[in-house]
Amino acid sequence: MDGRLRADKLTLAYDRRTIAEGLSVAVPDGSFTVVVGPNACGKSTLLRALARILKPTAGTVVLDGESVAGWPAKKLARTLGLLPQSSVAPEGITVADLVARGRYPHQGLLRQWSREDERVVAESMAATGVAALADRGVDELSGGQRQRVWIAMALAQQTPILLLDEPTTFLDIAHQIDVLDLCADLHESGRTVVAVLHDLNHAARYATNLVVMKDGRIVAEGPPGEVVTAELVEDVFGLPCRVIDDPETGTPLVVPAARRPAVRAE
Ligand SMILES: Nc1ncnc2c1ncn2[C@@H]1O[C@H](COP(=O)(O)OP(=O)(O)OP(=O)(O)O)[C@@H](O)[C@H]1O
Ligand SMILES: [Mg+2]
Repeated sequence: MDGRLRADKLTLAYDRRTIAEGLSVAVPDGSFTVVVGPNACGKSTLLRALARILKPTAGTVVLDGESVAGWPAKKLARTLGLLPQSSVAPEGITVADLVARGRYPHQGLLRQWSREDERVVAESMAATGVAALADRGVDELSGGQRQRVWIAMALAQQTPILLLDEPTTFLDIAHQIDVLDLCADLHESGRTVVAVLHDLNHAARYATNLVVMKDGRIVAEGPPGEVVTAELVEDVFGLPCRVIDDPETGTPLVVPAARRPAVRAE
């Protein structure tokens, strides 16, 4: 199924270093698309291009039938939100003020801060479990708390399309599941979610559409049950493993092969 957002034959480069060539991907509307792949394969670069942070050297990112290059900034920010892999908060800013910045694209000359903005900010902080931190300085939080504040800011933007680059980094296992459940809720309520994840088992559980990248290329895409095989994991990550059924969900569960004991010469 075609969607509102797609990348068409992108060449992505930093200065003269080409990261990807002829990269095309369609994000199905209403999908929970998860992008996986080894470190440095180009996942963040792709997300940046989709969010117009990085200008492709060739090719087009198409949103609602038009190149994003021509989209007015605020309109784009009301349609598509990006949680970058790492962000630095302005010095001394409080949690509530940072989350409130997610409302910026909804403000205008005639549209000042409203009750609605207040409500959305409160809801976004509640959804990510940071409401109790509202008045704390962002720079005095733990890594996991901070990560959830950034997610709250992206939520407050209320975009129909949400791009999340490693939203579960720094989070303990319970908070990882909380954030993934939240993404699943957003997806079920009709939003399109694209997330980069490193945990293949989480990816296989939550994704409706899995995109597997290697060396700047997409090597597989589709429902996790069809995509995740031991051969694919070995080919893409160089990891010998078994793929079994997740006893909770029946989705693919990747079990790395046990380390072979060193053979000792007698
Ligand atoms: N700002 C930059 N300037 C120059 N090269 C960059 C820049 N950002 C990324 N790269 C390079 O582009 C390639 C792809 O990086 P990218 O961040 O997209 O990888 P990734 O798949 O997101 O990796 P990770 O899983 O480690 O986050 C890497 O070789 C990286 O060194
Ligand atoms: Mg990355």
